[in-house]
Amino acid sequence: MSSTANLLELKGVHTHIGAYHILHGVNLAIPKGQLTMLLGRNGAGKTTTLRTIMGLWQASQGSIHFNGRDITRLHTPQIAGLNIAYVPENMGIFADLTVKENLLLAARKASNAAQMDAARLQWIFRLFPAVEKFWNHPAGKLSGGQKQMVAVARVIIEPRDLLIVDEPSKGLAPAIINNMIEAFDQLKKSGVTILLVEQNIHFAKRLGDNVAVMDNGRVVHAGSMAALAADEALQQSLLGLSL
Ligand SMILES: Nc1ncnc2c1ncn2[C@@H]1O[C@H](COP(=O)(O)OP(=O)(O)OP(=O)(O)O)[C@@H](O)[C@H]1O
Ligand SMILES: [Mg+2]
Repeated sequence: MSSTANLLELKGVHTHIGAYHILHGVNLAIPKGQLTMLLGRNGAGKTTTLRTIMGLWQASQGSIHFNGRDITRLHTPQIAGLNIAYVPENMGIFADLTVKENLLLAARKASNAAQMDAARLQWIFRLFPAVEKFWNHPAGKLSGGQKQMVAVARVIIEPRDLLIVDEPSKGLAPAIINNMIEAFDQLKKSGVTILLVEQNIHFAKRLGDNVAVMDNGRVVHAGSMAALAADEALQQSLLGLSL
């Protein structure tokens, strides 16, 4: 079923990394305009799934459709060119460039700071004060959590159709996690479709419309976040923890 209600659809996706068979037939549907949480234990295959969507690994079997279009065999720049933004687990910022330069590179429509969308920039400064504070500092000198804010700021400096973010709350202090939740909540309200990998259950519960849980290279549960949050026994069996 290729539904227009789903912006992104993976069907039976297998991924091999060298000799290792990592994904074993991933089925995943990301509804348009909603936030989908991808959960699962360490090593379940979450990052590999995101990398396969972005063409950083090639699916060896199965299909990936975006907006009804088959993107399974496209290369990463072509996939990014479809207005899909990806924040990898290691954040993908340029350490030697200033925070400003990092955002400028991500703002494809601007060639200098004055051309960046000023209202959007003010919104980012409110969400992530560190971005403004360290504007003219090399991004590599920032703390892990501050780098995480810069990485998310980079992908929201322009409107996107799909945001894919690998563990945005990783290493963040509780107060900043709340800013991050606020940021994604506002992005949700702007209508953008979001796929988040998350280990922080508080974060997942606050933001998720839908949830998919992976284990051993497969999606073993998919449904609404509210239903999973309400079902302690299911959480225990899927994640070995309670929300
Ligand atoms: N480059 C690689 N070479 C070989 N095996 C890999 C590689 N990258 C990942 N794997 C393996 O693939 C499996 C899935 O890894 P993946 O990074 O997708 O898990 P994850 O769900 O993102 O875990 P985490 O929560 O720890 O980030 C793991 O067993 C991992 O060891
Ligand atoms: Mg991972």
